[in-house]
Formats: sequence, C-alpha cells, structure tokens
Amino acid sequence: MSLKKLGIALDFTDIEDAEQFLYSIEDKDIVIKIGYSLFIKYGKDITDFVKSKGFELFLDLKLHDIPNTVYNGVKGAIYSGADYLTIHTLGGKEMLQKAVEAKGSSSLKLLGVTILTSHDERYLDYIGCSKYSIKDLTLNLAKTALETGIDGIVSSVDEVSFLKENIEKEFIAVTPGIRLEDDSKDDQKRVATPKKAVEKGANILIVGRPIIKAKNPNEKIKKIKESMNI
Ligand code: C5P
Repeated sequence: MSLKKLGIALDFTDIEDAEQFLYSIEDKDIVIKIGYSLFIKYGKDITDFVKSKGFELFLDLKLHDIPNTVYNGVKGAIYSGADYLTIHTLGGKEMLQKAVEAKGSSSLKLLGVTILTSHDERYLDYIGCSKYSIKDLTLNLAKTALETGIDGIVSSVDEVSFLKENIEKEFIAVTPGIRLEDDSKDDQKRVATPKKAVEKGANILIVGRPIIKAKNPNEKIKKIKESMNI
C-alpha cells in the first residue's frame, strides 16, 4: 500500500490550546487524532473545529462494548465527520462485524487496536490467555479484524513488518512512537524515526509531543514529512 500520511496526536486538555495550535498549522494535509481528553470534554465542538480547518479527523476512542452499542458508536462517529475511528479488537468478532456494518458505504476507515503496548505477558495471564505470546495474539486479533472488514491496525513500529509479512490482505498500518533522531523520547519506551517506520510498512505515522510541544511546529512537520518522503 502506497498510502503515507502524517497524523498529529492533539493531546491537549483545553479546547483553547488545541484550537490555537490548529490555527497555527499551515499544512492541512494532516490527520488530527483526538482522544478521550478532548472528545469527552468538548465532543462536537472540537470535531467540527478540526473539520472546519480542513484536516482529516481521527477519533481514537477504542470502542469496546456490546455489538449494538458499538454499531451506534460508529454511526455517531460518521455523524461527527470522522475519517478514522479506532475499535478494540478484543471486543470480539460479532462486535467488529457490527462496526463494519455501521460503517456501510461511508468513507470512514475503521482501525483495530490489538494488545496495547502498555501490556506485557502478565496481561495475558490476567485474561487467561497465557498459552499464547503477545505476538501471536496480536497477529490473530489483527487477522480476524481484517477478515471482518476492518480497514487497518494500530501497532508499534516493531510489529508492523511482522504483521505485514504474515497478513496477505492489504491494510492501513498506523504507528505511534515516532521520533526524529534528536527528539526526546518522553515516556515512550521504543521509538523509531519516521523514515524507519515507513520502511517497515507503516502508512499513517502518529506524532504527538515532538510536534505539539515544538518551538516551531510547522518546521517540525516539514522535517518529519521530508523524512517520510512526502
Ligand atoms: O506524544 P507522542 O508522540 O508520544 O504521542 C503518541 C500518541 O499515540 C499518544 O496520543 C498516545 O496515546 C498514542 N499511542 C501510543 N502508543 C500506543 C497507542 C497509542 O503512544 N500503543
């Protein structure tokens, strides 16, 4: 898949800061990822603002509930103009199928989240799956999600090439944990440069603090895009 995009994690807690930041961004060919902090507080105010400024909207809400509730959640995301929405693959096949059904012929792209990078083998013990490795479980969850019609998978850069090598179907690979050589790692344990992530098969790179906390975010965006060759 030749798709290559930069996504910015809009990790502000106040809408004024988020809006001020978006006003300052010159390049509109960017996906803006909104998570719990802004969405739960500001809902349609923030989604409308992102869309009105010409950006693509990525709702990172990791939906995980009974199938009917997730169906309605996906319909809500379409209503708010979302271009991308995350769904938790651990919610089960029926839930994923209902999400795909709700998406219908809209242009929304559904992205599956597998085992969160904050989890280790103890989590598998916790959910009674200790006979599997995180890698195997991640691959199984990703495969099942893509079979049901989910469009992409969120994973670490480390997992991207493994998933792409082991899954025949084309999918959008979304990866956080991206840093330029001289950026601070912040609290990320494993990071990769934009160039490396693209080489490994990532399609949408999610970058937060290196851009939103940069002295000159426009300059930083340019550098990252250059490194991605876009
Ligand atoms: O600031 P930074 O570039 O580290 O932000 C990365 C973004 O990606 C944050 O919004 C974070 O919640 C999200 N994310 C992540 N690791 C995952 C899944 C999501 O860093 N495994």
